[in-house]
Amino acid sequence: MARATSLLRRPSTFALALAALLGPICAAAADDRAGATLITACQACHGKEGISESAEIPNLAGQKQAYLVKQLQAFRGGTRKNDLMAAIAGQLGDDEMRALALVWSQLPGAAAATSAPAGSIAALRSRMSFPAGFPAGFTLYETVVDGGQVARRYANAVALRAAREGKPLPDGAAIIVANHPAQLDAARKPVLDAAGQPAAGPVLSYAGMAVRDGWGQDVPVLLRNGDWDYALFAADGSRRDGLNQAACLACHKPQAADSYVFTMKALRAATAAPAAR
Ligand code: HEC
Ligand code: HEC
Repeated sequence: MARATSLLRRPSTFALALAALLGPICAAAADDRAGATLITACQACHGKEGISESAEIPNLAGQKQAYLVKQLQAFRGGTRKNDLMAAIAGQLGDDEMRALALVWSQLPGAAAATSAPAGSIAALRSRMSFPAGFPAGFTLYETVVDGGQVARRYANAVALRAAREGKPLPDGAAIIVANHPAQLDAARKPVLDAAGQPAAGPVLSYAGMAVRDGWGQDVPVLLRNGDWDYALFAADGSRRDGLNQAACLACHKPQAADSYVFTMKALRAATAAPAAR
């Protein structure tokens, strides 16, 4: 136990030990999936030493190896449901699961470490900034009402052009979702404006995704979305710098074939309509 902890505190030794551990069983795997890179993804949510800071994320340290493997298999098979872990476990083979579970099982559990030290999460920070002059340069491609909110989805010219040509969204593409309060009538149905679109109050907040060459380099392989970064912004466009974008990356990762965009169909449809040209 003491050995595993000290190894974790010295990343290079830890990485070497882990690579040695995973090496033989991962021999067939591609280089970038070496064990040392797999574990950095877990650390982005479960804490560097497997002790979590969040009420929604369990500790991994000190749990039984067989239990951890079983949970990973359940996430992969869909019998235990969680969007984030389904995306992570779906990328792992049984051997990789066993090796990862072994490492976490050997670290001291929460009883030893009374609470996670501040900064013990290897949080992934966003580099995306709010587009200057928004919505100038962006096209509204979809409006939806969800609960009491209206989401307006916008794409910039780089994204629209690639979507129109059926190509992956390249360097410089950006998508912004503006969240507004919906205007509801007495029956709590959305009120429509003159153009037949859901009427909305002033913007509450924004969510965004943008792609820049090189951004993905430091993102753990299990979380990497090419070179995309995700961010949340306040109504004035200031970025929520406390955000750990690991959850955004995990959930959007299965959309890789569509440039990590869930609403690609709507985006493509909008580029085909004369109004969007
Ligand atoms: C994007 C955040 C995120 C990342 C990255 C992540 N996890 Fe998780 N993990 C979660 C959340 C959230 C849960 C709780 C799921 C639930 O409520 O069922 C969880 C649960 C688990 C559990 C179940 C634990 C228990 O006590 O039942 C295991 C095992 C696990 N994760 C292993 C891993 C491993 C191994 C990695 C790295 C390869 C990893 N996770 C990466 C967010 C993450
Ligand atoms: C649990 C899964 C999940 C997580 C976590 C998540 N998203 Fe999404 N995201 C979606 C889905 C599904 C959509 C499609 C629209 C919808 O259903 O709301 C979407 C849509 C989007 C879009 C519009 C482009 C597209 O993909 O359709 C942006 C931008 C976006 N999300 C940003 C973020 C940011 C920023 C975060 C992290 C703060 C985040 N998302 C976290 C599931 C997720």
